Amino acid sequence: KIVVLDFGSQFNQLITRRIREFGVFSELHPHTITAEDIKEMNAVGIVFSGGPNSVYDDNAFKVDPAIFELGLPILGICYGMQLMAHTQGGKVESAATREYGKAELTVATQNKLFGDLPTEQVVWMSHGDHVTEVPAGFEIIATSPACHIAAMANTERQLYAVQFHPEVRHSVYGNDLLRNFVFDVCGAKGDWSMANFIEIEIAKIREQVGDKQVLCALSGGVDSSVVAVLIHKAIGDQLTCMFVDHNLNRKGEVEQVMKTFTEDFDMKLIKIDARERFMNKLKGISDPEQKRKIIGNEFIYVFDEESAKLENMDFLAQGTLYTDIIESGTATAQTIKSHHNVGGLPEDMKFELIEPLNTLFKDEVRALGLELGLPEAVVWRQPFPGPGLGIRVLGEVTEEKLEIVREADYILREEIKNAGLDRDIWQYFCVLPDIRSVGVMGDGRTYDYAIGIRGVTSIDGMTSDWARIPYDVLEKISVRIVNEVQGVNRVLYDITSKPPATIEWE
Ligand code: XMP
Repeated sequence: KIVVLDFGSQFNQLITRRIREFGVFSELHPHTITAEDIKEMNAVGIVFSGGPNSVYDDNAFKVDPAIFELGLPILGICYGMQLMAHTQGGKVESAATREYGKAELTVATQNKLFGDLPTEQVVWMSHGDHVTEVPAGFEIIATSPACHIAAMANTERQLYAVQFHPEVRHSVYGNDLLRNFVFDVCGAKGDWSMANFIEIEIAKIREQVGDKQVLCALSGGVDSSVVAVLIHKAIGDQLTCMFVDHNLNRKGEVEQVMKTFTEDFDMKLIKIDARERFMNKLKGISDPEQKRKIIGNEFIYVFDEESAKLENMDFLAQGTLYTDIIESGTATAQTIKSHHNVGGLPEDMKFELIEPLNTLFKDEVRALGLELGLPEAVVWRQPFPGPGLGIRVLGEVTEEKLEIVREADYILREEIKNAGLDRDIWQYFCVLPDIRSVGVMGDGRTYDYAIGIRGVTSIDGMTSDWARIPYDVLEKISVRIVNEVQGVNRVLYDITSKPPATIEWE
């Protein structure tokens, strides 16, 4: 295992990620952990991440000095390099100009870190301070025009440091450099895989849970599905899943959830039919924010009430991912946005939380899901908002409108899949705006609803562009929706990016 210490860089998550891609387990830990902690982890190497501080700031992040005495290889990146220099007796100064972007690096000496990589290479820099004097025992191993000491090493003590960011793709050989560190310097084996992850997590879950009971709110999404199956593998019937049918799911989804978990996986799953309850609450409400609040709150009430009926539930399983944590701010990373979880369970629940996915990224969760035998339809399900179709029927939500959007959406999904585009388009769905327009069908005039189609490409949902769905595919979708869905006579395609629009219409 390689331990990455978090000094607050926005890229720190990428480091663990890249190392795991090599088949070596890697975890991010707060920079406050001690040498003793690391010893217990059986680590073969340590990485210091970058961070926004200067080593001279009053509240600059420090590290337990004993970590340098563990005899483990350490790679310092950016702030991690400056910290290494500072604590080992070198000198760090603020640079005359902030260096940001690509730089030409020249490798100065033969060493394990650069291995046989080209001696001239493009790297990506982002720093205000830099090292101006290496500590005793260190040598300069690479330079760049604006940064004389772009990398340094004490090969005897296996301490290496780089001013640039090898974890960022713009550093052309960055990945190779990390690989050299992990294998040639640390001597990692590279035999880690999702199967190992499952084994390790199962052991952890068993130890944490003992003979107690776990409850899991299953939404049908990737994260909660994977977490449920993983825990079930660990503790079998000590896990109870609960699925709340709020009537705002897409066509076929409730059936899919029931089939997958009760039949294929033989899990204890309680379905709560709350359809009427949600519809009553939504009656007469057309303001989007109010709708969201009602749906979110109602979910909590239902979950609270129903879970209270179960006896002896001690743990609550949640599919929190690494990105959920990092976006809400860790001890060291700055908050980007506060995470709003699906349904947002109450904070004051009496359960202890169990979150076995909180070191993983979305695509790793997908890989894990496949390894656990979950069907592709579940593993590759597109993001679906907590309030579900409740915010895709614009204005007041009625049974009739839900039915229209459900049917239209089903056709859209079918045709996108037929066209082989389902993995390329990040999210695609139908909305039902609260407008009617005039049309002509057969010999008669119609006055029916319009359906809006939204298809977007995105990395994380924070920004997006509209998907360039081929015209002939759009045509097929449009013809089918108008012909097959009662009450629709017009189809629109949304061609706005986010920003200025949002992905959902409400
Ligand atoms: P917007 O509409 O804000 O959506 O551009 C960005 C992404 O977030 C999803 N979304 C939600 N997810 N609860 C969720 O779990 C919500 O209340 C919610 N609202 C929007 C949306 O589908 C898109 O992927």
